[in-house]
Formats: sequence, structure tokens, C-alpha cells
Amino acid sequence: MRDHSSTSEIGRESLPDVAALRTDTPGCEQVVHFNNAGCGLLAAPVLAAMVDHLNLEARIGGYEASAAREEEVRGFYTEIAALINCEPGNVAFAGSATHAFATALSAIPFRSGDVILTTRNDFISNQIAFLSLRKRFGVEIVHAPDAPEGGVDVAAMAALMRAHRPRLVTATHIPTNSGLVQPVAEIGRHCRELDLLYMVDACQSVGQYPVDVAEIGCDLLTATCRKFLRGPRGSGFLYVSDRVLRAGYEPLFIDMHGARWVEPGRYRPVETAARFEEWEFPYATVLGCAAAARYALRVGVDAIADRSPALAARLRTGLDAVPGVRTLDRGPRLGAIVTFSAEGWEPRPFKAAMDARRVNSALSFREFAQFDFGDKDVDWCLRLSPHYYNTEEEVDRVVAAVADLVQGRPGGTGGTDGPR
Ligand SMILES: Cc1ncc(COP(=O)(O)O)c(C=O)c1O
Repeated sequence: MRDHSSTSEIGRESLPDVAALRTDTPGCEQVVHFNNAGCGLLAAPVLAAMVDHLNLEARIGGYEASAAREEEVRGFYTEIAALINCEPGNVAFAGSATHAFATALSAIPFRSGDVILTTRNDFISNQIAFLSLRKRFGVEIVHAPDAPEGGVDVAAMAALMRAHRPRLVTATHIPTNSGLVQPVAEIGRHCRELDLLYMVDACQSVGQYPVDVAEIGCDLLTATCRKFLRGPRGSGFLYVSDRVLRAGYEPLFIDMHGARWVEPGRYRPVETAARFEEWEFPYATVLGCAAAARYALRVGVDAIADRSPALAARLRTGLDAVPGVRTLDRGPRLGAIVTFSAEGWEPRPFKAAMDARRVNSALSFREFAQFDFGDKDVDWCLRLSPHYYNTEEEVDRVVAAVADLVQGRPGGTGGTDGPR
């Protein structure tokens, strides 16, 4: 059995009272929610902010409600800026991390032969977007190799930067398909040294880890609010550096919010990251995101980063001790995502059996991670992603549930509704 780290009394001393945080989270009474990498459970203040705004819209009108809450809406930019260490004017709201990523990509004037340098663990939709750019513009996609212990080999990636002078360097901080944490700040140091455009997908890390855009040295960074940040669905953001704004990057389909139509034949992009937004906003969602960011800051990002990965480490250690379970997370640094395969089970019946035990989880398939799952020689895995409001007892219950299913113990559904 591998020891993933010390897991006794996990980070509790540095967090506000876990019991109080659970009281704040109505979903904790219903389920063991180990799908924070899919969508975190909403905290009560986040839900209240959204419901309150929807009620206001119903009472006085949608445009009038957003005008009445102008200051609170500005709170979205100040809270996200505080969370990732930038100015509010560097933050753009987006409907999803993918939308933020695609909007940012659309601002880069790719030409045939330009190189996009990325890793073998970048998010599926980003990889598809690069392939689409290759199909349309003839860009070249270069994947940096992994180090033997897992995660990208930063020295090899830096050598590729020098050899190719990529038009874009991009990396996913924490992939969707494994617990790996990529060394995005180390990659960033090379990008800054070589003055290369650098975009980071921080979709799984915002709310789970400290994400400091100055330390990472990125030009662009994308995230959702619904995962470890525990904001609402249908939300995300894009960070745009001053460097990129000053250089005049703008999305291909800039609208009347991102630009002023100054004369019939000319528009002028606005100065801030609002250049990357659209005119229409889901204001209740934006206010929910502001509340979620405020909540995370109040809980404390360092304390969260201490506890969530430690709960995951306890889970990995427990699963490693179960015969027939193979944990798949590799890398020098692992986060709060735990992936494993279960001998004798097909994916959907296995997840359904976990659902039946009120344990929320998610499936990942080879299609989500062609390189990573190819290297690991697996076609699917179950993903469990605890967060700081989960408990050690829940971790142990989930390990017991998996053991029960995989070993087909009495009381388990192992022999009836799942295995091949
Ligand atoms: C690493 C990573 N990047 C991007 C995304 C896409 O986020 P969204 O669904 O908000 O577009 C995900 C979603 O799972 C993700 O895990």
C-alpha cells in the first residue's frame, strides 16, 4: 500500500469549524458529495444571494434590478480579483470556463505554422479547440512530454519553448481526469523569461488551491465558479493581464459591451477585461459567484488547500488497501481529485451503485483524456473529489462502500446489479 501522506486530523486547526461549514451547506444532509470536481455544493449565502436577486427581478424588473444592485455586481470583480491577486479590471465574467477559454483563443491572431505548446494533460475541450485551430488555420500542436513520476517535464517543455517559439503556451493546472497538480508557476517563469503568451486553465484549482496570477506569470487564465469555488452552474471567468490588454488583444466577436462604436466605420475596444464579456449577464448568477468567492476567502484559501487534498490523500490511501481497486493519480503533487478503476465492474453500473448509496461521484472515460488514460491503459475511472466541508467519516464510509462493491461483500450489490 502506498502512503499518500499523513491523514490524521486533517487541517482542522486552520479551518473555521467544519461542523458550522456543513450547517451552512444544506446538501450535506442529503448526500455524501464527492463530486466537487463536477460541481461543488452551494453554501447557504450563495443560494440566498441568487434567490434574492431573482425575487427582486420578479418584483421590479430585470434591468431595474441590475441597476439597483450595481455595487453588488461590482463585487464579483473585486472578490475574484482578491482571490487570484489581480485588479478588478483584469477580470471578465464568462458563462463557462470553456467559453472563457474559447473567447481568449479567438483573440490570438493565429497564422499557419504557428505553434501551440501544451501538455498531455490539458482539458479535453481545450485539446479539441487546438485541433479545430489546426484544421482551420494550420497551426501546429506540440505536447510537452511527461516526467517519469507523472506531470509535465518542465525542463523539456522549456526546451520546446526555445526550439519552437510558440504563439501560445498553455497548461491545465489540475486536469479533470486525475489528481495531478501541474507546476504552472514553473512553466510561467520560462514563459516570462522568453516573453511567450501563456494561458492557464485553472478550472479545477480555483477554490481548491491558491491561484495567484502574478506568481503564475500567466497572460490569460480561465476558470469556472461552480466547482471547488462552490458557485452556481453556468458561470466562470477569464483573467486578462495588463500586458495583453495593452497589446490590444480582443475577442473575434467583440460586442457593444466590449467596444464603443465610435463612428460608422470604427469601434474602439474598452480598456479593461470587459472587452472579453458580452452585454447580457445572468445577474443572479454573477451575484452568486461574488458570494461564493467571498465565502471562499472567508473560509481561507490556504486552509482549504490544506484540508481538501488531505481528505483526498486519506481516500487514496484507503482505496489503495482495497483489492481490485487501482488508484490512478500520478505526480509529485496531488490535489483533491481521486481517480481509480474497479476490477470486475462496468462504469455506469458502478456509478449507479455508488449513487444508490448516496455517494456522488463522476465517471471519466478514455475520450476525456486520450494521452493520460492511454498511458495508464484504462478505458474509464470513477472520480471522487471531496472538499473541505466533507469529513473524515465520509471518506471512510466511501472507502467502505467501494470495498463492499468491488469485493461483492454481503450487503453489497456486487453480485447482482453491476459486475460483468
Ligand atoms: C480542467 C477543466 N477545464 C475546463 C473545464 C470546462 O469547464 P466548463 O464546463 O465550465 O466549460 C473543466 C470541466 O470539467 C475542467 O475540469
